[in-house]
Amino acid sequence: MENPYLPYPVRIAQIFTETQDQSLKTFKLVFLNPDDEQAFTYLPGQFAELSVAGKGEAPIGIASSPTEKGFVSFTVNEVGLVTAHLHKMREGDLMGLRGPLGNGYPWDLMEGMNVVIIGGGFAFTTLRSSIVYMLDLANRPRFKEITVVYGARTPGMLLYKEELAAWERRDDIHMHITVDATDDPDWRYNTGFVPAVTEQKVRSAHNAIAIVCGPPVMIRYTRPVLEKLGFPPERIIFSLEMRMKCGIGMCGRCNIGESYVCKDGPVFSLAQLKQLPPEY
Ligand SMILES: Cc1cc2nc3c(=O)[nH]c(=O)nc-3n(C[C@H](O)[C@H](O)[C@H](O)COP(=O)(O)OP(=O)(O)OC[C@H]3O[C@@H](n4cnc5c(N)ncnc54)[C@H](O)[C@@H]3O)c2cc1C
Ligand code: FES
Repeated sequence: MENPYLPYPVRIAQIFTETQDQSLKTFKLVFLNPDDEQAFTYLPGQFAELSVAGKGEAPIGIASSPTEKGFVSFTVNEVGLVTAHLHKMREGDLMGLRGPLGNGYPWDLMEGMNVVIIGGGFAFTTLRSSIVYMLDLANRPRFKEITVVYGARTPGMLLYKEELAAWERRDDIHMHITVDATDDPDWRYNTGFVPAVTEQKVRSAHNAIAIVCGPPVMIRYTRPVLEKLGFPPERIIFSLEMRMKCGIGMCGRCNIGESYVCKDGPVFSLAQLKQLPPEY
């Protein structure tokens, strides 16, 4: 039997600094063995454990889309031991990748629906994966209207700025970018918190599903907005960020009641969360 804790060896092909304060970097990783790349089949919403030799592992959402071939990418916030070491690494360095892990967004359910993507801060990573996936030429007909509300604290904290601008110019996706506050006179998007912009811009829950990923405070205030708009609990989807260790349902570190966030999630509908103790 294969060892589920064994990471694939990968090389850092490129590193991009995403934010003005340099706290978020995107790492583009390539597999050393082509067979490993074949085995690493994933859907947007899944995550992986990134490992740095001698330091440990950290669970990070997959930021690339399965439609992008030849690499997998991750956007990492520098917070502690593993992520600080990752931030010190250079292009060409070797590291480990274990996964894909978790369930991903409910792509079967989303098919044929209007999709509302709501993201805040660096949790936008798996939503970037989802947008690229849905905008892929072969996939776009599978979804109806795509609406995105994405917020960051300031313009300098927005991720994927060039892609945001490119999506803005398209007519098959409605982009609503917002920042909490800015004194930049050239800022031409929204100002205000994500729940308020969602209330202004999302007009209907008809045949629609909302995918919400962001800090707990954003989730807390976005939920009633979506409920007021008429989204039923099974069509409000959240991705949770619990503390994790094994990522495969073995260590018991991430459970909420009977559910393991790493294995049964991290993606849950509000209907599912209502069945669980409020520990998330
Ligand atoms: C499913 C999932 C997807 C994630 N996706 C991303 C992502 O795309 N990009 C990203 O930058 N981060 C993501 N995270 C959070 C990331 O896993 C943690 O920031 C990381 O594990 C910290 O590791 P560390 O060794 O650097 O920090 P540590 O030294 O372990 O801790 C430093 C600080 O970070 C806090 N912390 C540690 N783990 C978590 C966690 N899971 N959630 C919140 N706070 C934590 C600790 O309380 C402590 O204050 C995700 C987490 C989960 C569970
Ligand atoms: S992280 Fe070990 S059971 Fe979920």
